[in-house]
Amino acid sequence: MTTTPLSTTPPPLPAPALPSSLITTLPGHHYTDPGIFAREQERIFESLWFCAVRSGDLSGPGAYRTVQVGRENVVITRNRSGELRAFLNVCRHRGARLCTEEAGEVRRTLRCPYHAWSYDLDGALVAAPNLAKMPDIDRTAYGLRTVALREWLGYAWVCLADEPPSFEATVMGAAVERLGDTAAVERYRTEGLALGKRVSYDVKANWKLIVENFMECYHCATIHPELTYVLPEFARGYAAQYYVGHGAAFAEGAQGFTVDGGAGFDRLPGLAEDQDRRYYAVTVKPQVFINLVPDHVIVHRMFPMSHDRTVVECDWLYAPEVVEAGADVSRSVELFHRVNVQDFDACERTQPAMDSRAYRAGGVLVPSEHHIGAFHAWVTEQIA
Ligand code: FES
Ligand SMILES: [Fe+2]
Repeated sequence: MTTTPLSTTPPPLPAPALPSSLITTLPGHHYTDPGIFAREQERIFESLWFCAVRSGDLSGPGAYRTVQVGRENVVITRNRSGELRAFLNVCRHRGARLCTEEAGEVRRTLRCPYHAWSYDLDGALVAAPNLAKMPDIDRTAYGLRTVALREWLGYAWVCLADEPPSFEATVMGAAVERLGDTAAVERYRTEGLALGKRVSYDVKANWKLIVENFMECYHCATIHPELTYVLPEFARGYAAQYYVGHGAAFAEGAQGFTVDGGAGFDRLPGLAEDQDRRYYAVTVKPQVFINLVPDHVIVHRMFPMSHDRTVVECDWLYAPEVVEAGADVSRSVELFHRVNVQDFDACERTQPAMDSRAYRAGGVLVPSEHHIGAFHAWVTEQIA
């Protein structure tokens, strides 16, 4: 009787030398391995500045939001003076989650639903059952764990690191790298804009596929007919992010950044002449995309939930008078909503293949995608 070998999988072939037009991507398991995702959680999302909430969503003292930042849950609230504060959402008594809702409002204190330890809006322990009978407890020592917070562009960015990296270098630096200076993005005065629409997308794909997709426009001609109609140069495959400082010009026949090229709203005050009739995109690593057009700003925040699932929250922001007047923003929302759906469908179609033996060594980047190689190098360095 003959026996057959247990495994018939041939050893992997040596990778052929690449022509100079191509560079390699990350190997497939970087998108599917829960161990690599855990490292990214620790070294990237829990170590760098993370764009958590829109400041305007916290309307006044006591309003709060909870967000997942890496493996931690963070509660962000406004104190009595109206300043934003962020804490780990963990009770210092026996660890119960303090705020169990995604959003809410308290009057004066955050009260633990387990044994009722209560913390003021600056995180200090102010009350607990029988606390008066435990005079040796130093209340300041049992306050909530504070998380570093900065506000920029009307969003609250938090950092879980004990010693956060420079906000100016790592967050604002992304805008400088892309547009030449921070003034170019600050001119849109995003912090004064009003929320016209928010859509949350639950994408069954690794967060890096979504970043890579946003960074290139090689796919634009194939999957974005509405976008390439308004921004014809995108059909040539070169994304706005490929050239420093370059904004994609609107098509001659397009009146605004809308799904059919119809008129949008008045140009936001303060924009420079070269910002009119142009689209600029900025990627702020690791989880924010900013899209700038003359009459509105679109901000994507990604919340990586697992190696193959990412929640993307997308805000469309307009001049306050546009939103207050109840103007119809649906034509401009529809344009980028379609782009989002087209992009996220593509990412979801790619995710299962990351596990294929055909993708074990990864894929390749063509010249108009070579800048994604710098993103891969950055991720690799972060988790090294
Ligand atoms: S766990 Fe919060 S009061 Fe006990
Ligand atoms: Fe796209």
